[in-house]
Amino acid sequence: MLPMGSTAELSGPDLSAGIADADLLEGTPLLGHAGGEAIVLVRDGGNIHALGATCTHYGGPLAEGIVSGGSIRCPWHHACFDLATGTAHGPALAPVACYDVALEGGKLRVGGRNKGEVSAAAVLSPASVVIIGAGAAGIACAETLRQEGHKGAITIVSAEGSDPVDRPNLSKDFLAGTAPEEWAYLRTADALAGIGVDLVVDPATAIDPKERTVTLRSGRELSYDAVLLATGAEAIRLPLEGADLPHIHTLRTLSDSKAIAAQAKNGPVVIIGASFIGLEAAAALRVRGAGVTVVGPETVPLERVLGADVGTFIRSVHEDKGVKFKLGRKPVKITPDAVILDDGTSLPAALVVMGVGVKPRTDLAAAAGLPIDRGVLVDAQLRAAPGVWAAGDIARFPWYGELVRIEHWQVAVRHGQAVARSILGRVGRPDVPFFWSQHHDVTLGYVGHAEAFDKAEIHGELSMRDAHVVYRQDATIKAVMTIGRDKLALEVEAAMERGDIAALSAAVA
Ligand SMILES: Cc1cc2nc3c(=O)[nH]c(=O)nc-3n(C[C@H](O)[C@H](O)[C@H](O)COP(=O)(O)OP(=O)(O)OC[C@H]3O[C@@H](n4cnc5c(N)ncnc54)[C@H](O)[C@@H]3O)c2cc1C
Ligand code: FES
Repeated sequence: MLPMGSTAELSGPDLSAGIADADLLEGTPLLGHAGGEAIVLVRDGGNIHALGATCTHYGGPLAEGIVSGGSIRCPWHHACFDLATGTAHGPALAPVACYDVALEGGKLRVGGRNKGEVSAAAVLSPASVVIIGAGAAGIACAETLRQEGHKGAITIVSAEGSDPVDRPNLSKDFLAGTAPEEWAYLRTADALAGIGVDLVVDPATAIDPKERTVTLRSGRELSYDAVLLATGAEAIRLPLEGADLPHIHTLRTLSDSKAIAAQAKNGPVVIIGASFIGLEAAAALRVRGAGVTVVGPETVPLERVLGADVGTFIRSVHEDKGVKFKLGRKPVKITPDAVILDDGTSLPAALVVMGVGVKPRTDLAAAAGLPIDRGVLVDAQLRAAPGVWAAGDIARFPWYGELVRIEHWQVAVRHGQAVARSILGRVGRPDVPFFWSQHHDVTLGYVGHAEAFDKAEIHGELSMRDAHVVYRQDATIKAVMTIGRDKLALEVEAAMERGDIAALSAAVA
């Protein structure tokens, strides 16, 4: 993977000089350049589109993605960019540039940048939008409102102890020390101010949906026409004896990640919880040279989500890099220099990281009388009540006949973008959940959502880092996990989005 923020190298034909019309195949992105910028040319139906070739999320190569549903999709973490407008769908927040294309004498030539086609849909532009939570969903909503023409006031109310952060980075490159601090930020307060978004660091303490007001900790009251609740989740801290000692951390914020990184050199590390975040933290701390032991009650890590074979493989990937496991055991006590397990084992620990899951922050919503069921209940437009939307980790939303709550970055960003469109009176398309997770040299992608599965079919070789696993419940494909098969993951996503069972079955066969 290219580093975050990288740009695609200029390669392929000079598109300002032109290419033969016949050389651009339907639905096959063609990488070239014009005016010193990498550009991808796409033929989709009767239309030709030229867009910036570099994904605005972490710099992924769009020309290696697929074209589907009027958009080009990034192979790395599944951002989608509308072919006609360059509009972004999460995890990307910013659009890609669009360029003029002309057909002259049998040649396609790319000209200068244009503004993309302006949507013909009417824009309802409420005077004041208040967003509670400066995380993935909140920032995505604010940016999309501006990108789609909202002229009224936007206020983001924040409880984050820093500028808004790119949370997935906190357990990966930033924690490993291989990414500079500026990569850890999603947007700075200045950048938000630059698009007319007011970031107020003063947590919300109450919402009154009847009066349409939000009260802040300082006592300040904000009026709204539309409010988004995007308060995310908080990391669970096990109520063990010694759990409040200063060398014990959960991992949710930039200051958590910094504190863990700073203490990694103090001696052995124990990670409590063989979860995605626990294992990612283990991998990052190995890069820093720490001795790491992972403790968890399960016998196979990640088995509930990925199945026993994938879990066993992921464990071996970590063991090859020196991570030790103490599974089938629970911690019962933490002392200043050890974690004591339920079989009496004492694991030396100068640093303890708890990666034992999160709980959605629904207190505000519950106190406001919004419908709650293990999350804030919302409709397909993510509306919880008139004028009130909820998104991201807190939202329980309808997805293919089920009500689900999903803790993924891409889902939260797309929720925020969908809420912005809904506030403006536009109806979005259904999105397919996706997450990625990084374990040393293995990055896995997971498309769809299986609350449970009764069959996990492995295709290919996990050990060769070239495989996909199909998760079925009652023969229905619920989700697909890929390692080294990015294009397949995109094809699965596109087929699920269209509800095209035949294409889905063919893609995974
Ligand atoms: C370390 C880490 C690594 C992760 N890695 C991945 C990954 O690789 N892939 C993936 O798909 N997902 C990953 N996730 C999950 C992903 O980050 C979350 O699903 C996502 O952040 C949810 O977005 P959100 O906007 O709902 O909540 P958040 O991003 O948590 O934002 C919620 C915000 O609301 C604020 N808030 C809470 N209460 C109030 C209040 N009363 N007033 C004002 N503000 C308030 C919080 O301080 C926070 O800033 C990771 C999570 C963590 C912690
Ligand atoms: S780099 Fe394109 S989606 Fe992440």
